[in-house]
Amino acid sequence: MMPRQIKILAIESSCDETAAAVVVDGRTVCSNIISSQIALHTLYGGVVPEIASRKHIEKINQVIEEALREADTTLDDLDAVGVTYGPGLVGALLVGVAEAKAISYGKKIPLVGVHHIEGHICANYIENKELEPPFLCLVVSGGHTHLVKVQDYGTYEVIGRTRDDAAGEAFDKVARAIGLGYPGGPKIEKVSREGDPHAIEFPRAKVADGPYDFSFSGLKSAVLNYLNGCKMKGIPVVQADVAASFQKAVVDVLVGNAVKAIEEFQAERFAIAGGVASNGVFREAMRDACTKKGVKFYHPSPVLCTDNAAMIGAAAYYDFMAGRRDGMDLNAIPNLKLGER
Ligand code: KG4
Ligand code: ZN
Repeated sequence: MMPRQIKILAIESSCDETAAAVVVDGRTVCSNIISSQIALHTLYGGVVPEIASRKHIEKINQVIEEALREADTTLDDLDAVGVTYGPGLVGALLVGVAEAKAISYGKKIPLVGVHHIEGHICANYIENKELEPPFLCLVVSGGHTHLVKVQDYGTYEVIGRTRDDAAGEAFDKVARAIGLGYPGGPKIEKVSREGDPHAIEFPRAKVADGPYDFSFSGLKSAVLNYLNGCKMKGIPVVQADVAASFQKAVVDVLVGNAVKAIEEFQAERFAIAGGVASNGVFREAMRDACTKKGVKFYHPSPVLCTDNAAMIGAAAYYDFMAGRRDGMDLNAIPNLKLGER
């Protein structure tokens, strides 16, 4: 007899995407609906927390209904509801958490709280059916830059992290400085195609007492100094060269630390995740480095790299199978640490 399938409705609202997905057995995505607020926040040059919360409230029911409809299912047909409860913007997280609690209570189905970064990591399981722990994962998003040892489903050890800005944050800040606007990552990647990555020598910061740690604030300052210098000397700034040289510096540091960790921990598999993992230059550099080391390389499709609920459904499934159940006291935890319960 075939084991019963576990169907989970997952909800994600930690930042500026309102998202819902229906995922079966953690790896089969029946629907993945994302309502992005990016256009709205672009007006302000970044995410405005109060606006994000209000938009989540306006959109969440619609997004869930669409996810259920596309998966050809109903609330009565679910085994559990999974929801991101941290880290993220507290007001934004609360919308998803309250919604998930209401569904859990109303339909008498288990509630599973999911760590947002765990979700990003689990995005890799969706299209790589053979991927199983242990593996190393570099999570690079707008809020986080974590090098993680995935020891087992639900068991993580963070071996490296940023000491200041996250990689995505650096992309966003540099994009603003060179007049590209929000969100910076995709825009920098696009204009970089016209630029020379060797045009300007930006620093590759090493963190003395943390071989796998990252620091991007010095790089950001170096870009700002370069722009100021050009202005003072009356030299025209070539936007595409600045973008390409900056992107190359970030990618070199990310890949450098990844390779150190691969060597030290003798990893056989390496995965990337988070919004910056959709960057083509980073993906190719990481793929080359893994090939050279004889390591199998994994990455989600771009739509599963940036915030979505399918990844939360994948993570919720493994948490559910491990027996995690949350009660009506589940709260949003804006600074939730990975591996903490
Ligand atoms: O994972 P994500 O959607 O949200 C967080 O959890 O933070 O990541 C968003 C971040 C933003 O900083 C955005 O600029 C960056 O990912 N990003 C990129 C690219 N696409 C998104 N960075 C570099 N290249 C890209 N193509
Ligand atoms: Zn994210």
